[in-house]
Parts: sequence; structure tokens; C-alpha cells
Amino acid sequence: MQPFRLHVFVCDQQKPEGLPCCSARGSAKVIDVLRREVAARGLGDDVQITACGSLGLCERGPNMVVYPEGVWYSGVQPQDVAEIVESHFQKGQVVERLANKERKAVYEEIRTNRDKFLAGMKARDAAGIMPDDLAQTIRGFQESRVILTAVELDLFTAVGQGSSAAAVASRIGTDERATEMLMNALASMELLNKRDSTFYNSPLAARFFVEGSPDDSRAARSRGAARPRHSTRIHAGRCRSRRPRA
Ligand code: FES
Repeated sequence: MQPFRLHVFVCDQQKPEGLPCCSARGSAKVIDVLRREVAARGLGDDVQITACGSLGLCERGPNMVVYPEGVWYSGVQPQDVAEIVESHFQKGQVVERLANKERKAVYEEIRTNRDKFLAGMKARDAAGIMPDDLAQTIRGFQESRVILTAVELDLFTAVGQGSSAAAVASRIGTDERATEMLMNALASMELLNKRDSTFYNSPLAARFFVEGSPDDSRAARSRGAARPRHSTRIHAGRCRSRRPRA
């Protein structure tokens, strides 16, 4: 017996820059919207959502597969989620325009991608290139530092209802170029949204990192982090991307 009527696996795989993956195509947003939509329609006890690693259709993400039927959806965007939940999860009608209809073609595509991936891994290993999981751990530290620096500077509060990097730098007293680099990094992590030259707080940043927000957790994030204060580099404009040493 299945514990849930439907079990939905959504790929949230990250890969090194330049390689196609669901994460780079916005899977985190899709998962967030999907969870909210399922909850809003009272399907939480019926439909289990699990973020997972690569499903093998990496060029066409974000991908998801719905069991027990085994329906594979590709290229799912946040705006498609309500239709999938209502049509498929509630009414049992597959959203044909997003579904992969040819099972054999799906199987072949996954197999081809898997073979390519294994061959690539072998070649990288032979060339002495750092394994992805180690590189990802290093990037995780960098992302953490970016967020903690922004919190330390109270940058999200300074963004307010939307601001340019120059306006934020002026408010928090930092170097303009270094501040813009920091804000672009936050935009790539989807904590800020950038339209033209204006940055806006994402819902997550607005909820947790802005002064006066109901779940303000800036103090908790700043406390007890045994690290050098990176914000001094932003103040001095010494934040530059570095080349790895040879
Ligand atoms: S990265 Fe999502 S299917 Fe491969």
C-alpha cells in the first residue's frame, strides 16, 4: 500500500556553471510554488513532494516525475504549477503539453545522458579536475559568506521596496562597485530580484532579513558565526573576484 496517493519527485540538481541542470533553470522556485499550491488546495496528506537529484533529462528542466503513474513532466515553470496540481493531482488529468509521452524516448535520453555523464566524470578524473561534490562544498561556503555579509551590512533592509546598488551603497556606507557585486551574487542566489538596474528583496529575504519583518532573524544569523567580518572588504571596496592560484 502507498503511504501517499501521489509521490512527486522534483529535480533540484545543481551542476557546475555552464552545464545544463534543473537548479539553473529555476527548480527551487518551482518546488516552492508546488509545495504552497498543494498545501493551499488541502492536498498535503495526499501528495508527497520530494526534491531530488538529477532525473536524467537535464537539458529540459525543471523536470518532475509523478508516481505511481510514472508521468514525467519537463520544462515546468512556476506558472505551470497551478494547472498541474488542479488538472493532474486533483482531477487525474495529465497536463499533456508538459508531459513526455514517449516512454522509450525518455528512457533513451536518460541513458544517453547517463553515459555522457559517466564518460565526462572519467575524463575529469583523468585530467585531475576536482570532483563536483568537493567543488560544491566550497561554493556552499562562498554562498554562506555572501548571505552573512549582506546580513551584517543590513543590506536587505537598505534595499527596502526596491533600490539601485548605488542607493544601497550610499545608505549603508559601502563601496558602490563592491556593493553591486555583492547584490548580483545575491540575485543569482534568488535572495534579490533584479529588474533593469533595480534590486528587490525576494519574499524569503523580505521575511527573514529585513528590519521590522515578523520573522526577522538577522540577529540570530549574525551571532556566533566564528568568521572574519567580510563586510569590512565591502566598505573598503576590496571585494574582487580572484583567480585561483596556479
Ligand atoms: S539536472 Fe534535473 S534532470 Fe538532470
